[in-house]
Amino acid sequence: MANTPENGIPASELRNVSKRFGDLVVLDGVDIKVMAGQTTVIIGESGVGKSVALKHTLALLRPDAGEVYFEGRRIDHLDERELVDVRKNFGFLFQMGALFDSMTAGQNVGFPLEEQGTCSAEEIKRIVSEKLRMVGLDGIQGKKPATLSGGQRKRVALARAIALNPKMILYDEPTTGLDPVRADVINELINKLKRELGITSLVVTHDMASVFRVADRILMLHDGKIRFDGSVEDIRNSTDPIVKRFVEGRAGEDDLDGLHGGEKP
Ligand SMILES: Nc1ncnc2c1ncn2[C@@H]1O[C@H](COP(=O)(O)OP(=O)(O)OP(=O)(O)O)[C@@H](O)[C@H]1O
Ligand SMILES: [Mg+2]
Repeated sequence: MANTPENGIPASELRNVSKRFGDLVVLDGVDIKVMAGQTTVIIGESGVGKSVALKHTLALLRPDAGEVYFEGRRIDHLDERELVDVRKNFGFLFQMGALFDSMTAGQNVGFPLEEQGTCSAEEIKRIVSEKLRMVGLDGIQGKKPATLSGGQRKRVALARAIALNPKMILYDEPTTGLDPVRADVINELINKLKRELGITSLVVTHDMASVFRVADRILMLHDGKIRFDGSVEDIRNSTDPIVKRFVEGRAGEDDLDGLHGGEKP
């Protein structure tokens, strides 16, 4: 299925990862390779385990079986202290991507730099302005998150995610809750960071418009397994009914099951 060239060591890799919570098997032997400089997108229905897979990439969750690598180094067994250095390579935009409400936009973007404690106030100011310029928002430093639109808040969160010049960015539903135009601003930013900074991205989404705009490679999670692995062109040509149904956004009869019994018009 996959026709992506896979020369060299992946930037990030989940190898045969399984994860369960109690009786619920979420991942059942999942392989995810993210190649450097590419945008890899994970799609799949709500609750299928996309965020769980993403958290394994950072060892925020540990697999029950299987292995997780970053740039060829196994990381799932590292302790929290060792992981601090590994995680410096990542920027993340979480699903609930919250900014600190009590801080200004500028302070939010500068926060990782303050925490790191190696930059002067003057340098932080310069970097904050550079990162905000990257997302098209230089000048809003003094504004509080509550006064910004949803799309602007996501962009500030993205500026914060790139504050420490990560090699790789993890995006969990970056366009959710945004109108199509604002969503596309985020898509364009994902592409710009790849183009201009060579950043590797792993994006989790169920927004197919976003998938078609940003993906070099698409993986679909279904029933704990990787159901599809290939390019945008491959997924458009897929004859797998489960994949087609998701891509075309159609409901099947199964989807009505939850409506039977109890629910009357
Ligand atoms: N820490 C946890 N403890 C117990 N169950 C969890 C935990 N994290 C996730 N789950 C369960 O694992 C399943 C997969 O969750 P996950 O958040 O990965 O779904 P998702 O594919 O990201 O869904 P969505 O598209 O709605 O964000 C869900 O049933 C969820 O309730
Ligand atoms: Mg999720």
